[in-house]
Amino acid sequence: MPEHSVQEILASYNDHASLAEAWTIPASWYVDERIAELERQTVFSKTWQMVGRVDQVEKPGQFVTATVAGEPMVVVRGNDGVLRGFYNVCRHHAAAVVMEPCGQASILHCPYHGWNYGLDGSLKGMPEFEGVKNFAREQNGLVPVKAATWEKFVFVNLDPNAVPLEEFLGGLVRRAAPLGWGTLHYFDRSVYDIHCNWKVFVDNFLDGGYHVPHLHKGLNSVLSYKDYTIENEDRYCLQSSPMVSSEDSSPSDMRRGSRAWYFWQYPNLMINCYEGYMDTNLVLPIDADRCRVIFDFCFGDVSEAQREHNLRSVAASDQTQDEDLGICEAVQRGLKSRAYGAGKLSVRREAGEHLFHRLLAADLKGGLPQFAAAAD
Ligand code: FES
Ligand SMILES: [Fe+2]
Repeated sequence: MPEHSVQEILASYNDHASLAEAWTIPASWYVDERIAELERQTVFSKTWQMVGRVDQVEKPGQFVTATVAGEPMVVVRGNDGVLRGFYNVCRHHAAAVVMEPCGQASILHCPYHGWNYGLDGSLKGMPEFEGVKNFAREQNGLVPVKAATWEKFVFVNLDPNAVPLEEFLGGLVRRAAPLGWGTLHYFDRSVYDIHCNWKVFVDNFLDGGYHVPHLHKGLNSVLSYKDYTIENEDRYCLQSSPMVSSEDSSPSDMRRGSRAWYFWQYPNLMINCYEGYMDTNLVLPIDADRCRVIFDFCFGDVSEAQREHNLRSVAASDQTQDEDLGICEAVQRGLKSRAYGAGKLSVRREAGEHLFHRLLAADLKGGLPQFAAAAD
């Protein structure tokens, strides 16, 4: 089969079709490394990406590190109380200046040759550097990136021209405000390495509960499937379901309150909440074929007395995730099959996927001219 150009692959998706007329994005978008690279250069280099929680960077010197679009990042609270983001790349010979995932420091000390940077990124000192010519210390601070916070979360954006975080989040800010996430506390993390494209995981999240009665029998027993609602606005989709009480006490015991809220924010962040509970799912592409998904769990009560209960809640999530992982990996294999090109979408259930695919198509098609120019 002749290899198609990236332009041809992108042109094969019609992002103007209505939901009833639309197809999914084509299988090639999930398996072609050139698309994965284009996503890195456009989607992940231009959108706000969550890198940590506000409670990790409350005090001066507290920091979090992360990788965004392949770039090492550090976000640190200054002595002046300002939160700043930087490329976590030493200006000497490019080592990572901060090695830990999070922590607190009075100075950012490169472990390789001992260069020191202030919490504001300025280069403070370089051992044994006397007599070096054409080098200005004041021009060799850590390279800054945009950083900002919303609710419990810290974000960075690699694009110097990016719109402010709250503008990017749009209606999500207003929609999430009444849910009181500020009262929840971090409890635990689960990390999944999955053999599928990151978009397969997002699609699975955005199918409006379509798969729930078939794949998640335990979860299904506490959700009112027929009353599932789906709202698209700006760059987010909110799927929500009333909770019902169940015969089987174990899952309902885990998930309380009258409603379950499942938010997705373009491109790769999900926030799920019930009363007194929230988990975030951050989907990080590794290559076309693999992704890592980080689940962070927060609860209203993280006291020792609640620990058993909270652990059982995390275990209930792990059970649901295991069911999702198996199916996501099967989908990735299917997307590579000669028998599959693209699929149709359920009008009742799959409006969220339609939004995702259109936003993605807009970013990829819009970024292609620059990408092509850079590749020449
Ligand atoms: S690479 Fe950081 S001091 Fe040399
Ligand atoms: Fe699922």
